[in-house]
Amino acid sequence: MKSAISVQYLGHSCFLIATPKAKILIDPFLTGNPKAAAKAEDVECDFILVSHAHADHYGDAVSIAKRTGATLIAVYELALHAGAQGVKVEPLGCGGGKDFSFGRVQLTIAHHTSSVDGPSGPVMLGSPVGFLIRIEGKTIYFAGDTALTMDMQLLGERKQIDLAMLPIGDHFTMGMEDAAEAVRMLKPKLTVPMHYNTFEAIQVDPGVFVREAGKHGYQVEVMQPGASITL
Ligand code: NI
Ligand code: MN
Repeated sequence: MKSAISVQYLGHSCFLIATPKAKILIDPFLTGNPKAAAKAEDVECDFILVSHAHADHYGDAVSIAKRTGATLIAVYELALHAGAQGVKVEPLGCGGGKDFSFGRVQLTIAHHTSSVDGPSGPVMLGSPVGFLIRIEGKTIYFAGDTALTMDMQLLGERKQIDLAMLPIGDHFTMGMEDAAEAVRMLKPKLTVPMHYNTFEAIQVDPGVFVREAGKHGYQVEVMQPGASITL
């Protein structure tokens, strides 16, 4: 039977999830991303999830939302920032969720910051978050930019995670050793690493992460930008 959900990696932390009911784009940093597997002007989607306001996540979200008419889902302050630019938005609070046409999105805790550049320095736009996405009976956890946190253990105990996307690049987020510990707590069926090798500061060998997670019996798939998996 053909799988109902395909997940395409578009580079850095950008993924395009296609379900029978909708296309959901996460953290669309394509313009200026040396690893981008698509052009912002070519991406089609119905919903855009943005984990936080940093340019390597918020990226092309507003321009894509304007062109496609997609609804942007984000934490309150970030959603209103996008809404002020003429985008259709759905503001949520961390821990809160909502049912959409394709399934459910819940915002999860991420330990990081969330800012856009203002005239005299960074301006904070609410808390950074991750996403727990429930579609067609599958549960996807997109961690966003975050440190390792005990909250992940709670997710592992309470949710049956089919796919986890975890940052491994170190420097701005958890590195591979902590990400392997995150896998142990989250207990996902499959993990895909993200947020590495896009820039000089986050160069790592993802094979190390594959081995570390493998020691605990967990499967990791290193996706090349442009590659897809089905759930
Ligand atoms: Ni960030
Ligand atoms: Mn980032």
